[in-house]
Amino acid sequence: MWIFGYGSLIWRPDFPYLDKCDGYVRDWGRYFYQGSTDHRGVPGAPGRVVTLLQEPGSNVWGRAYKLEKSVLDDILRKLDHREKDGYERHEVEVWHNEEVVIESALVWLAGPSNPSFLGPASLEDIASQVLASVGPSGPNDEYVLNLDRALREMGVHDEHVANLAELVRTHDPEDA
Ligand code: SIN
Repeated sequence: MWIFGYGSLIWRPDFPYLDKCDGYVRDWGRYFYQGSTDHRGVPGAPGRVVTLLQEPGSNVWGRAYKLEKSVLDDILRKLDHREKDGYERHEVEVWHNEEVVIESALVWLAGPSNPSFLGPASLEDIASQVLASVGPSGPNDEYVLNLDRALREMGVHDEHVANLAELVRTHDPEDA
């Protein structure tokens, strides 16, 4: 059993795994369109975290983890809890070098009809919201900057994430 992470699961998997591999899912885009009221914000003042939206022709790079059978149920239960603010499990193919490397991996997606979905806004507005938000898992800017760093370390350029991180850094002197 494999799971595919494209947000915090890239830089903070927080569960044991047997193997990992970087790869991409096809026809999706990664955007800071999901509200977070339980990790990077609070009810009434949500932060913004990533979800995937269908986008024919686009790829989203992330990291897949292979889980051991004996701990699978426990890990999936914990991940369902961690991703409970609007995310649901789906199955995806994971690709690398134009080939399918994992035929079926679980991914947590937060679709546009979930109650915490915030949707598009200007990058400036998203950056302001990120800089103003903090939740039980910490400040929202930490999430953006950690994801940006992890993608760069993987050699991945994600324009939306990179541009947002740049805005956040320039407004946040400690991270400049
Ligand atoms: C993921 O990382 O795959 C899901 C979204 C998140 O927890 O940031």
